[in-house]
Amino acid sequence: MHHHNYLDWSRALTGRLSEVDLTKTSFAARLKPMASRLNQELKEGKLPFLNLPFKDALEKDLANIQGWLKNFKHMLVLGIGGSALGARAIQKAFAPAQDRPEHNGKCLWIADNVDSESLEALFNSLPPNDTVVVVISKSGGTIETLGQYFLVKQWLEKKIKTQWKDHVLMITDQNKGFLREEATKHTIKTLPVPDNLGGRYSALSAVGLVPALFLGVDCHALLKGACATASAFVNAINSDQDMAHALEKHAAWKLAIWNNVLMEKGYNQIIFFSYIPAWACFGNWFTQLWAESLGKEGKGSMPVPAVGVTDQHSTQQMFLDGPKDKACLFLSYNKEPSGLIFPQDLPEEWSYLRGRPFGVLLEAETLGTRMALNKSEVPVVNMVMGSDSEYSAGSLMMLLEITTVLTGWLLDINPIDQPAVELGKRLANARLGATGYTEEKEDLANFLAV
Ligand code: PA5
Repeated sequence: MHHHNYLDWSRALTGRLSEVDLTKTSFAARLKPMASRLNQELKEGKLPFLNLPFKDALEKDLANIQGWLKNFKHMLVLGIGGSALGARAIQKAFAPAQDRPEHNGKCLWIADNVDSESLEALFNSLPPNDTVVVVISKSGGTIETLGQYFLVKQWLEKKIKTQWKDHVLMITDQNKGFLREEATKHTIKTLPVPDNLGGRYSALSAVGLVPALFLGVDCHALLKGACATASAFVNAINSDQDMAHALEKHAAWKLAIWNNVLMEKGYNQIIFFSYIPAWACFGNWFTQLWAESLGKEGKGSMPVPAVGVTDQHSTQQMFLDGPKDKACLFLSYNKEPSGLIFPQDLPEEWSYLRGRPFGVLLEAETLGTRMALNKSEVPVVNMVMGSDSEYSAGSLMMLLEITTVLTGWLLDINPIDQPAVELGKRLANARLGATGYTEEKEDLANFLAV
């Protein structure tokens, strides 16, 4: 049995929100049009992230490669942005052993930057025979990822000759892009990124789940948790009325309204404060999801990842006593304090800890921080996890993805595209001398002339 996640709203309406009734804001009137849009876009396949957990094909794809993945001790992922952050969050949460001194099991290396030195270090130490390289790019054309792929291919070819192809898996668009062509040309294994699935919404597709599977993470439970959160919508796509009903009751709708009201009232930053230590990297995953989806047309709020208790000794001062422009999504796990037991011979001053588990510290600090935020009138929604399992994480990820889309729709921006990021990609290509990009090359020349 799963204890389900829930949201604690008791401290959400404070500060400049203290008079607000979320059911009576101007956004509430948008429920019906939003519901029919949701219904329409789901039917048209424009929101594939919502359908992913229901796809048998995905679980089959994973089952099909599971045996093959057992051949390898190391997995090297080449990918950036949405093609990397989900996998890292899942790795750190559910397969943290690699960071521990005694580790002797499977290792996942995620190369998600342009860092020649660390790539070279990987080439110098990874055993090619025991390594699988997973190249992840939805577009199949991201220069950072392709650049790494060209170098990895050269390394593998040199070390294991024609066998290199059997050590590569490509996760990319089903039909188009360079990686798709490359895979066809060399008969390299592939898995698809579904149409219309943006990188930052792809953690629960092969993009995030292949690395998870390799590490022995329970992918089925991740998908089941996501399913539990998405099913209200997916089951309601028969009529606009059913959808309106599902939307109105869904936690994502309330969260989206809350976020829009926050922005209206000048709360420009949203802290993602994780008090589940192993889940710290979900903050980075959320940051990308929120920022790249909502930072458009001068709108959006700045996501700020923070880790309890580490950041209590750092950014917390600013959260509590800096500008009153911050709200907080607080992540916690309601469980009995556990862990190593403090010895009986602790000095008198700390005698209250004698015989108690280390976890009492985390519990006390979690409560202390939440209360301090409340005393400073920072609006807080506490996302209380039913457990620290894959199921809970899948459910949380789906909730945040839906919330992001709805928040964007209420802001009247498109939360699915990323024009500013694409501009950076085009300028980098132009700078490198890629063919085409005439306009970008002219822009660059003008920029450099100053
Ligand atoms: O969320 C997004 O769309 C981006 O962050 C992409 O994931 C990132 O730019 C990488 O793109 P691609 O997977 O096409 O290589």
